[in-house]
Amino acid sequence: MKRIDPARKISGKVSLPGDKSISHRAALLGALSSEGVTVHNFSDGADCASTLSCLEQAGARVRRSGTTLSVSAPDGLRSPDGMLDAGNSGTTARTLCGLLAGRPGVKARLAGDASLSKRPMLRVVKPLRSMGAQIDGPSGGSLLPLEISGARLKGATHLLETPSAQVKTALLLAGLGSEEPTTVIEPLATRNHTERMLAHMGVPLYFDGHSITIAPSKPLKGGEWTIPGDFSSAAFWIVAAAILPDSSVSLSGTGLNPTRTGLLRVLERMGLAYTVEQEGLKGGEPTGTITVHSSRLRATGVSGSEIPLLIDELPILAVAATQAEGITEIRGAMELRFKESDRIVAVTQGLAALGADIVELEDGWRISGRSKLRGGRVSGMGDHRVAMALAIAALTADSPVEIDDPECVGISYPGFFGTLDALAGRDAS
Ligand code: S3P
Repeated sequence: MKRIDPARKISGKVSLPGDKSISHRAALLGALSSEGVTVHNFSDGADCASTLSCLEQAGARVRRSGTTLSVSAPDGLRSPDGMLDAGNSGTTARTLCGLLAGRPGVKARLAGDASLSKRPMLRVVKPLRSMGAQIDGPSGGSLLPLEISGARLKGATHLLETPSAQVKTALLLAGLGSEEPTTVIEPLATRNHTERMLAHMGVPLYFDGHSITIAPSKPLKGGEWTIPGDFSSAAFWIVAAAILPDSSVSLSGTGLNPTRTGLLRVLERMGLAYTVEQEGLKGGEPTGTITVHSSRLRATGVSGSEIPLLIDELPILAVAATQAEGITEIRGAMELRFKESDRIVAVTQGLAALGADIVELEDGWRISGRSKLRGGRVSGMGDHRVAMALAIAALTADSPVEIDDPECVGISYPGFFGTLDALAGRDAS
């Protein structure tokens, strides 16, 4: 249990953890390269640690010193001895399916925790099977644990049924090891870190409108670069500074990839007072300093093609909406029901318990602001992004809020509560 006291304001500079999505990809591509990848500011979250331990078990060489990480596989990958454990991490499970399915001779079994074991896997298993992948599991491969027998894959053209960067990444990784080119068509753009990193490592990709084509490639060349600060972690401080009076935060080295920063564009419509100073590319990713001041937010509508560009930020956007004048409707976000928790339910219950005017919709929420939130006891439902969003909501409440399962923030942001205390000007609790 964690008690969050109301805060009068927050202010200061934040040093962000490395981007989780980019960290996973650096480790995966390192394991496909003989020279290896070295990155600085690797995510310190448990999800990326799950990827590293799976890769190590499959024969990759992993060296870690602080947040500097080197991954290589000079002798290629091999069948792991025991079960691979993806923990709570959907990105680990789905991308590993693509990476391992195209390694002939490698046999692996892949499992996850209770939450991950309920999440849909067919979205990645089905298109991989159309390339010749041999993957089996409960309910026809729709759930973990999965058994993967690496095989020589054929190229294929895939139309993504669900806008998912995890699925896109799995298919591009499979395509790297397949016999012919592989094309992924994504009707709605999703985060493009895999494409940027492959290009940064010298792998040719061909873009045509909504389609990306990758040709089979020899073992990748290595590289060394710094991972940008995680925009999804920055999002909590952006909203906190916006909704608390007399506040300002500055976030340097933040990833500014436009396929991730949809929240900034939505908050800008809502009246966010902020500046962005570009700092140049890190490993092919744009970075910069975001500075946010207290803002008088107005309601807005969010739907359609905007959703994949802020999918992980929707819980904290819901918190912002409780403090915005008017009715905010967030629609087209059914995908939230298949995350670490059913985030539509988890956010509705958590914010309603604090007195917010929030209505659960099939594919999002209707939130009326501004509400004066009250203290109470809430659950993050074991979901890191829900727990952090509720902690930020708690800062605006009229009395303390107790969060049941605070340790889940370690999935993406182990330093979250320490930074919260520092920004609120209080001693670490
Ligand atoms: C991720 C993609 C998104 C996101 C997840 C990380 C990634 O999931 O929600 O936190 O690193 O590719 P989907 O691809 O399922 O939308």
